[in-house]
Amino acid sequence: MKCTVCKKEATIRLHRHKAKFCNEHFIEYVYRQVERAIKSFKMFRKDENLIVAVSGGKDSMACIEVLNEMGYRVTGVHINLGIHEFSEKSEEIVRKFSRETGIPIKVYYLKELFGKEIIEFKRPYAEKICSICGKLKRYYLNIIASELGGDAIVTGHNLDDACSILLGNLLFAQVQYLSKQYPVVEGEGELPRKVKPLIRLTDDELKQYVELRKIPFVQEKCPLSKGANTIYYKEVLNYLETKIRSVKAEFYFNYLKKLRPYFLNEEETEVKYCRVCGYKTSSRSGICYVCSIKNELEGSDDKGPY
Ligand code: AMP
Ligand code: FES
Ligand code: ZN
Ligand code: ZN
Repeated sequence: MKCTVCKKEATIRLHRHKAKFCNEHFIEYVYRQVERAIKSFKMFRKDENLIVAVSGGKDSMACIEVLNEMGYRVTGVHINLGIHEFSEKSEEIVRKFSRETGIPIKVYYLKELFGKEIIEFKRPYAEKICSICGKLKRYYLNIIASELGGDAIVTGHNLDDACSILLGNLLFAQVQYLSKQYPVVEGEGELPRKVKPLIRLTDDELKQYVELRKIPFVQEKCPLSKGANTIYYKEVLNYLETKIRSVKAEFYFNYLKKLRPYFLNEEETEVKYCRVCGYKTSSRSGICYVCSIKNELEGSDDKGPY
């Protein structure tokens, strides 16, 4: 097997591009895809301050490493969510990577930010824990990034993530979310914009990249995410990809170009700000989701660990 670029021995085959690469040209391919995403979606510039949300998983670890290598100004932010060994291991890996590479990564604790760890959520909250966790992460990343003077919050979402979220929203006609499916969400006031520079790369390509570059990452999935629908969506999409070359990229980028415009007017809800914390919210009560959960938890006597 020969590298498509230099004709030396290839180590990696990418079916979806009908390409084979040696290590050097695979790394170049990864950088090129990231650069293309940044430029085509006008994500950020070299002089901007990027806050990279680092979970310790392969995608966000690759993301901060690649952007740093490409000369962008990055600061990592890791939130220890308090999910037993999973969170301890994630924090350890992130700290070690930061020490060894010199890339700054700040560690925060949900217990200190919110007053509770994820594992402490009891019924009825425990049933929708992943969704609550996602909202808490988004909320605190916004606050932390504003405090750090970030111009953009960068997450490690890749093409498989984007396709599975899109598939879920289409299957259940989640019209209010369909227009938001975009690799850049503009910020407002104090809130930085949110960007996904790995959007042109797949799970598999990023796995090969971190292994090749010997970037440490947490192999395990979050133990609370078992049975999440997104896992099934990814399986279906992976199956389709084995039968129809490049179907994931076709699905996502065709959606952005041809279908998303139809949904753009659907989300015109009035922008309001939470009366407790001042954070943007679309809730009718005038209190944002995180403040209302906080109120509910404080009002209940359900305080022991789940
Ligand atoms: P997930 O929703 O777990 O698939 O994560 C999507 C993205 O959110 C990751 O690629 C990270 O950029 C960010 N993220 C997830 N968990 C954390 C965390 N604990 N701390 C900081 N960023 C996170
Ligand atoms: Fe939040 Fe799993 S990472 S519930
Ligand atoms: Zn080559
Ligand atoms: Zn609030």
